[in-house]
Amino acid sequence: MKKIIIINGPNLNLLGDREKDIYGEKTLSEIEEISKDRALALNLNLEVYQSNSESEIIELIHKAQNNFDGLIINPAAFTHTSVAILDALRSFKIPKIEIHLSNIYNREDYRKKSITSAGVNGIICGFGYLSYVLAIEALSSLLNR
Ligand code: DQA
Repeated sequence: MKKIIIINGPNLNLLGDREKDIYGEKTLSEIEEISKDRALALNLNLEVYQSNSESEIIELIHKAQNNFDGLIINPAAFTHTSVAILDALRSFKIPKIEIHLSNIYNREDYRKKSITSAGVNGIICGFGYLSYVLAIEALSSLLNR
């Protein structure tokens, strides 16, 4: 069974409580459960992590290189600021997808630029928790090509 990892960035632990009009009603644990079900149906073993710390996210990306076949990341606010996360993503070759619950391109100007997306194969954003499900499906297609 191939292994994939989802890495969630800062404040995503507050989903279900935080700005529900933008990010939806589901908690991160609920999204994790839905994601694991979809991954299992596609014969993928999924591990999900969340961190509020940039350095921990970078360490997770480094570890993913040798331990996973594909990576999905929602860098949250670090999307718009972190060259360090971009460099970590760029440093290895497994298929990578960036996701966002909201459509960052129809929000505030400072969210319209994703620094980290230059380090991934593609982006899925704007579908709420379904962005996670769609990314798992896309990663499965990439891994089975
Ligand atoms: C987000 C969008 C970011 O701009 C924001 O900082 C987040 C969540 C999203 O999933 O829509 O924390 O990544």
